[in-house]
Amino acid sequence: MSNVIVMTHPLIKHKITMLRDERTGTNEFRKLTDEIAMLMGYEALSDLKTREVEIKTPIEDTVQPLLDGKKPAIVPILRAGLGMVGGLLALLPSAKVGHIGMCRDEKTHKPHTYYCKLPTFIEERLVLVVDPMLATGGSLIDAVNEIKSRGGKTIKCMCIIASPEGVSAFTEAHPDVQLYIGAVDRCLNENAYICPGLGDAGDRIFGTK
Ligand code: PRP
Ligand code: URA
Repeated sequence: MSNVIVMTHPLIKHKITMLRDERTGTNEFRKLTDEIAMLMGYEALSDLKTREVEIKTPIEDTVQPLLDGKKPAIVPILRAGLGMVGGLLALLPSAKVGHIGMCRDEKTHKPHTYYCKLPTFIEERLVLVVDPMLATGGSLIDAVNEIKSRGGKTIKCMCIIASPEGVSAFTEAHPDVQLYIGAVDRCLNENAYICPGLGDAGDRIFGTK
């Protein structure tokens, strides 16, 4: 479990509780998802590399840090992962954005990949894969397989709510990948939904049913 980082910040906990509440409507749900992604991103990006540059302040010459290396890639798993992109772009406005389209079969709960478009030079970028829900883990495992098969090397994942089953499956499949989680819930139900969870994240973000 050493590559699993569960958020402890009270602001994140508070916002996740509001997100879970069935009375939270689409507009508020989107705002909260964005804010949680930004707060989690702040933690997940704390080891970004910097380089020293010379600048002049109005007072004097000085050497100060700026972000170094290729721009990170944010890769949401469609659809629900899209809800986390805005919050991360607020932190990293110049980041590249890739997309992986996946959906779970309602009966088997197995993921199906229907789209993948990643930024160029993916092997040189930090890749931040985002999806609010880690249920069986199948979607995130396949998404990371896809990114690795296209050359991705430095990968971090961010999920707002996870099941214990999903965390175990993911860490077994990708022990080298850091997994940032907002909250780890009790279990999966017979439909492979997270309990207590928040319901269907995609439907709540996009107002569909
Ligand atoms: C949800 C969620 C994850 C996946 C998690 O997406 O956003 O991608 O299920 O389940 P897993 O861990 O068991 O694979 P869904 O397939 O419902 O698609 P959507 O985002 O288009 O609603
Ligand atoms: N996908 C969701 O949106 N919610 C769950 O609880 C499980 C999968």
